[in-house]
Amino acid sequence: MKKSSKFTFSVFITITSFLLLGLIFMIVPLVQGSDRIVVVLLLIGAHAVVFMMLYQIYLTYLKPNEQIKAVLAELIKGNYTARSYEKSHHGVDHLGYAVNKLAFNLQNLNRQDKMHSRQLHTVIENMESGIMLLDTKGYVQLINRKFTELFDKTEAEVTNQLYYQVLDQKKVYQAVQDAFLYEETFKNSITITKGQNRLFIEIVAVPFFNESNDLRGLVFVFHDITELKHVDQIRKDFVANVSHELKTPVTSIKGFAETMLDDDAIEPAMIHKFLTIIYKESDRLQSLIHDLLELTKLEQEEFKVELKRINFSVIVNDCVTFVKELAHKRDLELKLNVDSDLFLTGDGARLKQVILNLLYNAISYSKDHGQIVVTAKRTHPWIELTIKDNGIGIPEEMIDRIFERFYRVDQARSRETGGTGLGLAIVKHIVEAHEGVIEVDSQVDIGTTFKILIPITHGLS
Ligand SMILES: Nc1ncnc2c1ncn2[C@@H]1O[C@H](COP(=O)(O)OP(=O)(O)OP(=O)(O)O)[C@@H](O)[C@H]1O
Ligand SMILES: [Mg+2]
Repeated sequence: MKKSSKFTFSVFITITSFLLLGLIFMIVPLVQGSDRIVVVLLLIGAHAVVFMMLYQIYLTYLKPNEQIKAVLAELIKGNYTARSYEKSHHGVDHLGYAVNKLAFNLQNLNRQDKMHSRQLHTVIENMESGIMLLDTKGYVQLINRKFTELFDKTEAEVTNQLYYQVLDQKKVYQAVQDAFLYEETFKNSITITKGQNRLFIEIVAVPFFNESNDLRGLVFVFHDITELKHVDQIRKDFVANVSHELKTPVTSIKGFAETMLDDDAIEPAMIHKFLTIIYKESDRLQSLIHDLLELTKLEQEEFKVELKRINFSVIVNDCVTFVKELAHKRDLELKLNVDSDLFLTGDGARLKQVILNLLYNAISYSKDHGQIVVTAKRTHPWIELTIKDNGIGIPEEMIDRIFERFYRVDQARSRETGGTGLGLAIVKHIVEAHEGVIEVDSQVDIGTTFKILIPITHGLS
């Protein structure tokens, strides 16, 4: 048990008091008369001086020393707020000052350290990639929020577990082993299933080292590249679709031209028939190339609609007049329900393209003697246009896909009508460039309604 300086001081005082008493008892019998009083007074005086000196020593050295020891004990425990009381910069007080300075610096360092680790923690937690830190023995030391989301594992479940107990992916094991063995970065990709979705994850295993270049562990990064894969797939599909679409008319044109070249005795009627087919097919090629170029133009980042104040009612009526003849030929009734003077800020030529595309679709996918109803009205802050047919309709599961490039519900029928499957993709782009919305409602054999909403004032919707 440690003895305090107060205790030590009390012991000294007690001993000197006993010594004094001893001296009084020893010396007093040796002197006579009034000298006795003088001796006793001298001894008491000497005792008082010794007491004062000891008390001064206690105050100057022992007590501050005690305090410094207590502060150091607190610092060792990690309490960097502990301070000792110092009056001057001399002697023991100087030591107290130094200890206080040390405590102050430690407190600052500790504060900075905590701030850095908080910042680091925030960065790691909010990264868009999953992180897993392994020590040299393959035990998981740290994971972040994204990792938890990707693999549905909590921190408590994985910390201090071996990596192969946490993830059951052969490619992960391989990456860990290669990275540890060759002490180099390794990349690979894995797929994981989350509910209905399959996610593509790129994994990167990066070994890390200390200052003496000894391997300290492995950082695993998991990037979700599903979106990229999807875009890549769309691009591949697009190239495959374009090639396929171009192949059909080119093969046909080539075939008929070859037949005519090979056979000199071919009848003029047949030549006319073949040339008509060649003409039709080249026409199809032309419209395909036109639509592709159009779509490319619309998809360019810098594409902007040319905005003007336009009378949408006039545009709708013009388009209906344009297709009237065709609808008549197909024995279709065209009903108009267009409010007059529907002004909006938009690109007249592009909106015409939208309405014509929708009208052609309504005509192409109608049944004989069908009916098409065109309605345009103001539903603030929009102008609403609906084109409703009672044609063949679209199966529910395909409705979401009809805006995809080249997507056709019935390939044969669309080809018959000369469709390329790009019309609605173009329509959607134009509507969105106007900050508008397009909606479809359809039922097989009952009909289809396309609704477009264009903001009356561009940029305010
Ligand atoms: N009104 C409609 N009724 C039924 N099906 C429709 C209708 N409009 C579009 N579709 C379906 O959506 C598909 C995509 O239409 P889209 O206009 O993009 O292509 P398309 O008409 O085949 O060719 P084009 O590029 O020449 O317009 C069509 O092939 C058709 O199957
Ligand atoms: Mg179409």
